[in-house]
Amino acid sequence: MRALARLTVAALLVAAPLTAAAPAAAAAADPTPITVLTSDFEDGTAQGWAGRAAETVTPTDAVAHGGTGSLSVTERTAAWQGPSLDVLDLFEKGTAYTISVWVRMADGADSARLSVERRTAGVASYDQVVGNTAVTTGAWVNLTGHYTLATDVDFLRIYVETASTTGSLFLDDVTVSYVPALPIQTDIPSVRDVVTEFPVGAAVTGAEIIGEHGQLLSKHFDSITPGNALKWDATEPTEDSFTFAQADPLIAYAKAHDLAVRGHTLVWHNQTPAWVFTGTDGQPMTATAENKELLLARLENHIRNVAGHYGDDIGVWDVVNEVIDETQADGLRRSTWYTITGLDYIRTAFRVAREVAPHAKLFINDYNTNVPAKRDALFNLVEKLRAEGVPIDGVGHQMHINVGWPTVADTEAMLQKFIPLGVEQQITEMDVSIYQNSGESFPAPPADRLLQQAYVYRDMMALFRRYGSAITSVTLWGLADDNTWLDTFPVTRKDAPLLFDTRLQAKSAYWAVVDPSKIVPPAGSGCAVTYRVTGSWQGGFQADVKLTNTGAAALPGWSLAWQYTGGQHITQLWNGALTQNGADVTVTNTTWNGALAPGGSAAFGFLGSWTGSNPAPAAFTLNDTACTVL
Ligand code: XIL
Repeated sequence: MRALARLTVAALLVAAPLTAAAPAAAAAADPTPITVLTSDFEDGTAQGWAGRAAETVTPTDAVAHGGTGSLSVTERTAAWQGPSLDVLDLFEKGTAYTISVWVRMADGADSARLSVERRTAGVASYDQVVGNTAVTTGAWVNLTGHYTLATDVDFLRIYVETASTTGSLFLDDVTVSYVPALPIQTDIPSVRDVVTEFPVGAAVTGAEIIGEHGQLLSKHFDSITPGNALKWDATEPTEDSFTFAQADPLIAYAKAHDLAVRGHTLVWHNQTPAWVFTGTDGQPMTATAENKELLLARLENHIRNVAGHYGDDIGVWDVVNEVIDETQADGLRRSTWYTITGLDYIRTAFRVAREVAPHAKLFINDYNTNVPAKRDALFNLVEKLRAEGVPIDGVGHQMHINVGWPTVADTEAMLQKFIPLGVEQQITEMDVSIYQNSGESFPAPPADRLLQQAYVYRDMMALFRRYGSAITSVTLWGLADDNTWLDTFPVTRKDAPLLFDTRLQAKSAYWAVVDPSKIVPPAGSGCAVTYRVTGSWQGGFQADVKLTNTGAAALPGWSLAWQYTGGQHITQLWNGALTQNGADVTVTNTTWNGALAPGGSAAFGFLGSWTGSNPAPAAFTLNDTACTVL
């Protein structure tokens, strides 16, 4: 039914040329936040703030972040105690608030964090807004984070607590603001209507199914993956006590909008409560026969209840997640699952999942499967287990990638590797970080990175569509850049890895998927260059250069020039023709890599010599035009 409906829409799209408004590379103008709360403690009152228990909360002028007053919190008797404010009447469901507080210790040193406590029908949940951040007596520390209320509540408070000590605190200059939502673009093609080779999905939290987010989700996608709501800590936080409070609304939304659901995930080493791995003696499990039996029984009970709860509503399960460690000789991650049960946790998980969800496709899911060693270790495991009769239907490739990694060729090799096994393949968690290493951080996504990202989406999606007979779905790990796990992983910094921007407007990455001819290069840039030293030894080095035509016109040939400042000398170059005069280097195309369509790239590599230091060239020109250096 669904597939038929989609074909019809796709056919219509082909017949009627798109009349979509010109793609906006940066759709939303500077958003002006609206401040809905300020607590500055300048009026000599606590401005509604109170303790979470019996601690004392009083206005003070002993120290202040701004002005002369702040709030003093003393007589805390537990780390969770701290200043809190009722925001039940202030916060609206589905609005993304930015909460900013200034904190300082009055004695001692600790870490402070900012959280929200919400209650629905008496059941409390605690959402972290800003994680543990070092605080001392010497200085004010700012905690700023984002919070979207996704459920109906009858109690809602923001609060500050500490990690371990009960030292007194000061709080000052609290603000809560939000940027009004923009309507979603309804005049652009839906991703799901353009990409018809397989369903396209997005990972979601409760915030993504409300309001404009919910509209964007159902307009563009065929399926959802609950990003956290089905994990063990969310579904069985204490032994044999199951809750589906987070996941049920997402599954209900999917049903209401005719979307498929990927269940993620039944077994993982993360987001699994400590009790799972605690023996009957109250100690962390050691590898004994009793513990193995107990752990497998817990695993079986968990899967029976979670997968059993949803039955046919969940069509695909990531039964096990991230079990490979290619640095081990046997390729298997040394999680507690593994150290206590060997491979039996995987065997048990698939057997039980098949039994309680007989119609669901059962997947083994992992990241970095494009890395040959990891890919091969996963392949070996799947081949072995399937030969034993373990019901593994498919391999999930997470595809958490970035603007410069991996290559399309490695990704294609990843897909090809698994074809002989006869398993389904799904791209399960794709996002394309604008960062290439943990050291980078940009206050706002640079235009050239967003362009590079668009080309990655274009090339990867084209690859997936070419492999449409092997791939049975592609899921992005998030809906829009306002809510991505990469904002705090692997370090805290704003990332922008998805198809829609923080205001839900289509990015170049979106156009890269639906119509790459509409990718808009940033004004003025005709080329982008990545220069990477890939190996270095005493006196010598190897480097790769990638050149991308970011202009609007096709180039028939190219000539890339730069200057060395460290006396480097190129000794051998491949995939290009070299001229070097002193510091001046020019590389021109060979016969077969000269034509560069808009967005097209050419790469060449070389060996060189150096003495003293080997600085990368700061500037490049392509056919005499300055390039963006990536
Ligand atoms: C991430 C979630 O998106 C975050 O909200 C959470 O804090 C950590 O986990 N690989 C996976 C996903 O299989 O479950 C992870 O999801 C991202 C990496």
